[in-house]
Amino acid sequence: MRTDTATGADRKIRLADYRPPAWMIEQVRLDFDLAPRATRVRARIAFRRNSQAEGARPDLRLDGRRLTFVGASIDGAPLDQQALSFDAEGLTVPAAALPGDSFTWECETEIDPETNTELEGLYLSRNMFCTQCEAEGFRKITYYPDRPDVMAPFTVRIEAAAADYPVLLSNGNPGATGGLPGGRHFAEWHDPHPKPAYLFALVAGELVAHEDRFTTASGREVELRVWVRPGDEDKCAYAMDALKRSMRWDETAYGREYDLDVFQIVAVDDFNMGAMENKGLNIFNSKYVLASPETATDADYERIESIVAHEYFHNWTGNRITCRDWFQLCLKEGLTVFRDQCFTGDERSEPVKRIDDVKLLRARQFREDQGPLAHPVRPEEYIEINNFYTATVYEKGAEVIRMLRTLVGEDGYRKALDLYFERHDGEACTIEQFRQCFEDATGRDLSDFARWWSQAGTPRLSMSEDWDGGTYTLTLRQQTPPTPGQDSKAPLVIPVATGLIGPDGAELVPTRVLELREAEQAFRFEGLPARPVASVLRGFSAPVTLERQLDDATRAFLLAHDIDPFNRWQAGRDYAVAIALRLIAGGTIPNAWAEALGRLLADDSLDPAFRALALELPGEDEMAGEVVTRGGLADPDAIHEALRAMRAHLGGALGEALATLRARMAVTGPYSPDAGAAGRRALANRCLALMLAADTPEAHRAAEAQFDAADNMTDRIAALAVLVHADAPGATPRLDAFLKAWEHDPLVLDKWLTVQATAPLKDAAARVEALTGHSAFEWKNPNRFRALIGSFAVGNAVGFHAADGAGYRLVADWLLRLDPVNPQTTARVAGCFETWRRYEPGRQALMRAELERIAAAPALSRNTREIVERILG
Ligand code: PHE
Ligand code: ZN
Repeated sequence: MRTDTATGADRKIRLADYRPPAWMIEQVRLDFDLAPRATRVRARIAFRRNSQAEGARPDLRLDGRRLTFVGASIDGAPLDQQALSFDAEGLTVPAAALPGDSFTWECETEIDPETNTELEGLYLSRNMFCTQCEAEGFRKITYYPDRPDVMAPFTVRIEAAAADYPVLLSNGNPGATGGLPGGRHFAEWHDPHPKPAYLFALVAGELVAHEDRFTTASGREVELRVWVRPGDEDKCAYAMDALKRSMRWDETAYGREYDLDVFQIVAVDDFNMGAMENKGLNIFNSKYVLASPETATDADYERIESIVAHEYFHNWTGNRITCRDWFQLCLKEGLTVFRDQCFTGDERSEPVKRIDDVKLLRARQFREDQGPLAHPVRPEEYIEINNFYTATVYEKGAEVIRMLRTLVGEDGYRKALDLYFERHDGEACTIEQFRQCFEDATGRDLSDFARWWSQAGTPRLSMSEDWDGGTYTLTLRQQTPPTPGQDSKAPLVIPVATGLIGPDGAELVPTRVLELREAEQAFRFEGLPARPVASVLRGFSAPVTLERQLDDATRAFLLAHDIDPFNRWQAGRDYAVAIALRLIAGGTIPNAWAEALGRLLADDSLDPAFRALALELPGEDEMAGEVVTRGGLADPDAIHEALRAMRAHLGGALGEALATLRARMAVTGPYSPDAGAAGRRALANRCLALMLAADTPEAHRAAEAQFDAADNMTDRIAALAVLVHADAPGATPRLDAFLKAWEHDPLVLDKWLTVQATAPLKDAAARVEALTGHSAFEWKNPNRFRALIGSFAVGNAVGFHAADGAGYRLVADWLLRLDPVNPQTTARVAGCFETWRRYEPGRQALMRAELERIAAAPALSRNTREIVERILG
């Protein structure tokens, strides 16, 4: 347990307090002697005083946590331990003990990877050594200035028992290897590119490589390896293929080549996040590497592709150019998410990718912005940096880059990025430096635009229209609601891509980007032959909520005619939200709705993947947000009932059409995860779900037959989900068969857990509780925990919001249990309570009581404490 000291472990870190490092590092040499309970680390670090800092020679302050200090020397002279001052956060060598402005520090520490359940620093995952150093894990390996603006080339030597740990990996290019007495062996690695400690990585264990090669545009030969556990070799081909396509894409789209002789990916089973971009040695959650048609869904394949790309793209945006401090996290994350989004758009369907990304943005980031955890894309203070790997930093961060590109154009964007790479390669940068590159490359003044990084909250955009017989005037108004710590908001620069559609459905005025800079601004379109229907915010050109009063007929018109696929989808979404709100208020479902969707379904000129998205109803959480935006409080039962009735209505009204379309979408031939086939499966399975909602015997038979005959996980799990979620008689035998078939594959068992955890049934909490006793639920593994508890908390509104509070209690119990083991994952899952103020008073009281119970736990981690206290407000 951490003991807080005078330095204050829970104190706030502020951007305004940033000071350049007093000491820089010329080079680092690390020697690891690996053993599960007692690993020895010898660090040899060449320090040089930072020329930017002035005044008397400063002390040497090094970060360190949970290290056993063995000994240290400076320039070869052993230091008396009394000469150092230790505290819970590190050690200080007083200036008086430093020989000059440059010296070599040597230090030996001992660490215990086996008991490191936080999965930060050096830890063991199923007998494999691996590291996770972002954001501040390196300080759990050795004493070091663990901050991203201290960059150095690393040389690493790893020594371990050869039989247990035959493969020894670190960053950079391979060096000497060899055997040692006593059954031990060693390997050396050298990374010539200066990097911050958070990009350090080490892996040791019994691993096999799936190998390939890549030749860069300028002819460098790169060895590619995807390392997995023996037995998983046949599940790496897709990740490798995605890697090669990513490498090519970064050359074509950004002119960026890879810069080492090897690029390696390692899959590990115990991992807090998705993956990590360590230089030349990416470490991945095995969930985002391993795939076979029998075990992975189309969505899994797509996630693997985009995460492989994301981590690879970090090599330039994150590694070659890193962040000056953690407040600048969006500099690498927002930009890299934007890059991976574009990659997927290019590799698959751009409109479908855009819709998927906006769905995610609304579900996670708008939700965050509406609640007590709202913060700017670049926060100005934090207690625990691990709590700031948020949807706002990542997803809204990417939206800000996208808006920049929209404003300066594709050419301007490319010029600005070229300048950024040229000017800052090898540096640790700020958002201001990034923005300066855009200003210098394009000549635009972006000082007002910069508010997107500093102002939290989702702007609301409202509009009014005027038509005088020839001129159409669109008046746009913006207003951003207050967020914690930011009461008043200034207007933002909002690019509003707008097109005008004629009464016959033809495009009258093609898309033009309106730049809204004031609180209110009017835009005129002259010389029009007829009153147009405006298509506003095409492609979702800015992360705002568009408040627009439309009648059903205009929504149906846009759904039928808008040439912008995003807005076409949006029209359908708005239509569904409007109907759901009407139902909640006691209204009925108009027949025109199913008719409009029926016409869209039958239109074979539309991509099946797009039609699958258009057929999807808003989720319960999204509806709760809609209710609150309109000034109400959400009643989870009413929302659930409205959406259930809508699905049943569609299933009934479109019954025949759904069955026919589903049959027409059947994919023949061997399984392929490509976007075309995946889109057909998505549409067929969406039809199946709506058919089940109408609860006909044919629908049940169809789902059962699909499960029984499926040759791929996508179709199998889709069929299982509809049966389990309907509590159908066909569900239990198939759950059992599924369990039996996949008993030995934990990643597949996660799906088995999730399918049950998300079943919207009255006794859901009790069912999940029972599953926590199942041997498949190894709760200390983050994937398992998220598959059961996490997906129940955010994917099962009926169960989580059960009126008796059983759902909230169950989740809180498990958060309290996980917290001492793994604070990072606990704090992340605890975010499920962030919406508590959205709900009717009964739910609010129940949720609040659970939050208070968590907050009252005596030894709560700093991670969870910060989240829970901020949520309580
Ligand atoms: N930097 C990783 C990414 O986005 C995410 C991560 C953060 C992983 C912190 C582990 C720890 O690619
Ligand atoms: Zn990232």
